Amino acid sequence: MQIIVCENYDQMSFQGAEIIKSILLHNPSAVLGLATGSTPIGMYGLLAEACARGEISFAAARTVNLDEYVGLGEKDSQSYVHFMRENLFDKVDVPMANTHLPNGKAADLAAECARYSALLATMPQDVQVLGLGSNGHIGFNEPGTPFDSTTYVVRLTENTIRDNSRLFEKIEDVPVRAVTMGISEIMRAKRILVMASGKNKAKAVFGMVKGKITEDCPASVLQRHADVTVVLDKDAASLL
Ligand code: GLP
Repeated sequence: MQIIVCENYDQMSFQGAEIIKSILLHNPSAVLGLATGSTPIGMYGLLAEACARGEISFAAARTVNLDEYVGLGEKDSQSYVHFMRENLFDKVDVPMANTHLPNGKAADLAAECARYSALLATMPQDVQVLGLGSNGHIGFNEPGTPFDSTTYVVRLTENTIRDNSRLFEKIEDVPVRAVTMGISEIMRAKRILVMASGKNKAKAVFGMVKGKITEDCPASVLQRHADVTVVLDKDAASLL
């Protein structure tokens, strides 16, 4: 794992954006695996600015997202599809037809998982961006998820519901289920870019980088991947 420790969140976003920019410059039709959450927002902002300046283009890029809440769709402001449009897709030149997320409103969720899994198999990620849950989750793969998992419906842990409730009016509004890319599908990416900031991520960062490889800390599986770059701020790196 290559570890880059940054002074602060802005620097972390800059480092992340430089990595994605160089991937797009070398391969304009790259498959970008994208993440939601507060962590990559700064990086997406910088990528949108670079695109507006004409330095990069997403016109031929294809994107796959990690996850979506069950029951939420484009019209819901808390949905991940809404998040992606607001923070990246609507600000760059990516054709919407090239962007993919699991459909949290699918009537048949099992069929939706099979559809998304089959889609992922046809477009392995050139890079997968990951945030980190404070319990070590990646995507919405909670502790205990088998490393060979493929896209499935997950029941979120109380810890994750509590962490994510800050983005909802009240905790009861947080969906308790999500469709998430499985761990084996994350590991299929040629390159992985993990970003984490803040003290509340320090324990999970330690588990990911230096801990035992165990399903109890899903991010620890990344130690088995040949090309992982971890971009952290000082607080997230404080236990390393
Ligand atoms: C959610 C998402 C993850 C994300 C994590 C961390 O649970 N499903 O993909 O990495 O939260 O979020 P944040 O970046 O807001 O700390």
